[in-house]
Amino acid sequence: MKFFIDTANVEEIRKANDMGVICGVTTNPSLIAKEGKDYVETLKEIASIVDGPISGEVKATTTDAEGMIAEGREIAKIHPNMVVKIPMTVEGLKATKVLASEGIQVNVTLIFSANQALLAARAGAAFVSPFLGRLDDISQPGIDLIETVSEIFNLHNIQTEIIAASVRHTMHVTECALAGADIATVPYKVIEQMTHHPLTDQGIEKFRKDYEAVFGK
Ligand code: E4P
Repeated sequence: MKFFIDTANVEEIRKANDMGVICGVTTNPSLIAKEGKDYVETLKEIASIVDGPISGEVKATTTDAEGMIAEGREIAKIHPNMVVKIPMTVEGLKATKVLASEGIQVNVTLIFSANQALLAARAGAAFVSPFLGRLDDISQPGIDLIETVSEIFNLHNIQTEIIAASVRHTMHVTECALAGADIATVPYKVIEQMTHHPLTDQGIEKFRKDYEAVFGK
C-alpha cells in the first residue's frame, strides 16, 4: 500500500514529502477552503512540491457533467500530475467517461458502496475513493467497504486503484493495508502518529545514555 497525504496545507505536504513516505496528494473543496488561499494557486503550489498524482476536485457548486468536464480540463492543465476529482453521481460518471477518454486521470470521490466503486471503475476512473471514516461515523464498518471493493477489483481484474479515504487514525492505516487498499490518503497528524512507538523513544534514550557513559557527549 502506498501513501498519499490528505491535506491542502503546503507546510504539512512539505514535511511528509521530506520524510519520503508519500507519493501523492488528495485535496477536496473543504480542505482547500480551510487554507483560505486561491484554489488554482494552491493546487499549483502542491504540484510543485510532490512528484506524483495530485487530486484537485471540481467546484462543489458544479453538478452537471458539462460543467465538470470543462473544469476537469482546466484542472488537468495546471500540471501533468493533476488528477481530476469528481463526485460519485450520474453526472459525475458522465464526466469521468469523457475526461478519461481524453487521457485525463479521474479520482471518483465520495464512494460509500461497492456498487458505486464498480460503476466508477467501469466509467474509466483511474482511482476510486471509498470513505471509511465517514461510514464509521454512522456505525457502519468502513473497513468492510475497502475489503469488498478490493475483492471485487481483484476478482474482475480491474486496474482502477483504490484510495482508502477519510482515514482518521493509525489503526485505520493498518486495517486498510490488510484490506487490500492500493493507497491510503492520510492526514499529516496520522502520518506523524504512525512514526511513534514508546519503545523506540526508550531505546533511543538508553543508547544515548550508554554511549555518553563511555564516550562522553
Ligand atoms: C479524500 O479524498 C477525502 O476528501 C478525505 O479523506 C475526507 O476525509 P474526512 O471524512 O475526514 O473529511
